[in-house]
Amino acid sequence: MDRTTHLKGMLFFLFIVILISILIINVSSPRSNFMIPWLHGAHSAFSFRVSEQTVTRSMNVCSSQISDQTITPLDNTKHFVVSAFMDQRVKGFDIRIISIFKRDSIQPLHCLFCCADHLSSATPATVLLHSDHFGFPFGTTDVMCQIPHDCSATHVALLTQPEGVKSLNQSWMQIKNRRNPGKEEETFQLNFTVCISNLFGKYNNVLQFAQTLEIYRLLGVDRVVIYNTSCGPELNRLLHSYSQEGFVEMVPWPIDKHLNPSHGWQHLKHEGDLHYFGQLTTLNECIYRSMERSRYVLLNDIDEIIMPYQHDSLTSLMDTLQTQHPNTGVFLIENHIFPRKPLEERIKGPLPQWSGVSGFNILQNICREEPDRSVYHPHKMIIQPRLVEQTSVHEVLKMFGEMFKVPLEVCRIIHHPINIIKRPLKQLHVDTRLWDFKDKLIPRVNKTLRKAGLLSTGQETSGWMEKTN
Ligand SMILES: *[C@@H]1O[C@H](CO)[C@@H](O)[C@H](O)[C@H]1NC(C)=O
Ligand SMILES: *[C@@H]1O[C@H](CO)[C@@H](O)[C@H](O)[C@H]1NC(C)=O
Ligand SMILES: *[C@@H]1O[C@H](CO)[C@@H](O)[C@H](O)[C@H]1NC(C)=O
Ligand SMILES: *[C@@H]1O[C@H](CO)[C@@H](O)[C@H](O)[C@H]1NC(C)=O
Repeated sequence: MDRTTHLKGMLFFLFIVILISILIINVSSPRSNFMIPWLHGAHSAFSFRVSEQTVTRSMNVCSSQISDQTITPLDNTKHFVVSAFMDQRVKGFDIRIISIFKRDSIQPLHCLFCCADHLSSATPATVLLHSDHFGFPFGTTDVMCQIPHDCSATHVALLTQPEGVKSLNQSWMQIKNRRNPGKEEETFQLNFTVCISNLFGKYNNVLQFAQTLEIYRLLGVDRVVIYNTSCGPELNRLLHSYSQEGFVEMVPWPIDKHLNPSHGWQHLKHEGDLHYFGQLTTLNECIYRSMERSRYVLLNDIDEIIMPYQHDSLTSLMDTLQTQHPNTGVFLIENHIFPRKPLEERIKGPLPQWSGVSGFNILQNICREEPDRSVYHPHKMIIQPRLVEQTSVHEVLKMFGEMFKVPLEVCRIIHHPINIIKRPLKQLHVDTRLWDFKDKLIPRVNKTLRKAGLLSTGQETSGWMEKTN
């Protein structure tokens, strides 16, 4: 035996000893600083497999079939599911799945859960059709589920048969709004979120959109959620620019790929399967999407601005209103139409024209029509999402707190209808409230149009050539 062989033997022995010590340290104390990542991976995968056979299966099932669509057809039914949210405000329920159901084809359904370490047994689902559907065959529906004991659920699937394990071929939905246990915090990431229910057709009113979004921002809005079926090319550019920056959150809403959505709100007048591109569904989805992060949600259309008339921002408005009405979760704001036709040509004055930019300039519409109070007069809403369970367009359907009609001197909706009004107009008042914002608004609108490449060279030579921000 020569010396090299001996040395080799010694080294090999030393190597084995070191390897074993590392193994022991890693397996016995997972928090060890002396950590080898692949060993930890192997360790957890190992104990996984031993502990329970279903574990691996449940993890595989949930991770392989998670729906990444906003609208998912529910297998073996005529229905669609949209999003699942943790919601334990109503006794006996844990999960609310916002859905679109064919109202005449409701069958029993079952909820199956992916728990942290196993697959649950199925529990019966409760199907709650919203009372507002305007007579269309499809309607917004909440499917309510109860999570079985000893399940820390991460995903849910709906089944038509209770024996879930046999029909594992389901698409799973991630359960949103799962709060960290013990973190019952009252702070919100956002104060005000505006929910714009539906964008569809070739809508391309860039100027109105840019002005309205910048007014929202000046009023204190932190986030605008827009459900997008389709839009015109310039508006698409503007919205891409806003969503890159984070102010606008675009939610794909391809409802026309699944149903024949109605362009209107009355079933008898407007054909279709579902009210107004699914507006009722998106408004509800937006409330739940915002529930954990936003103190208030404004439910209005893009041609409407919820405008405080005695406060300079929504923040100070709501501070006042909420102090006066502490238990109120729904604040109704009166709609006021600012028709486009009558003075359109007259009011040019010192306002920029933005000629060449598609859409119309809302700053030029300063005539407010006196509403006809002898007929129904619609409202839009500012709500506290945590106090609302179901909503319609002009009122909530189910809530936990109280409701308050905000006096029109305090706040009203400045509504610039997209279509020119053909009926005879009622009494008009000059209302230049929007102009109070114009000094800040105009440069911001210019900046945002320039950033999206929507101001042509001819009009704004210097700003365009600079190519800064
Ligand atoms: C399971 O799902 C896949 C697609 O996700 C589909 O192609 C297949 O037909 C389904 N199988 C059954 C038995 O439903
Ligand atoms: C929300 O409003 C409060 C004052 O009411 C303010 O302190 C806080 O910074 C605001 N949060 C955001 C995200 O703007
Ligand atoms: C809006 O939806 C259309 C159709 O899916 C899509 O092509 C477009 O990029 C979307 N726009 C934005 C800003 O998300
Ligand atoms: C904004 O742009 C318009 C149109 O290009 C122009 O007429 C106006 O002077 C600009 N205003 C400001 C403050 O940048």
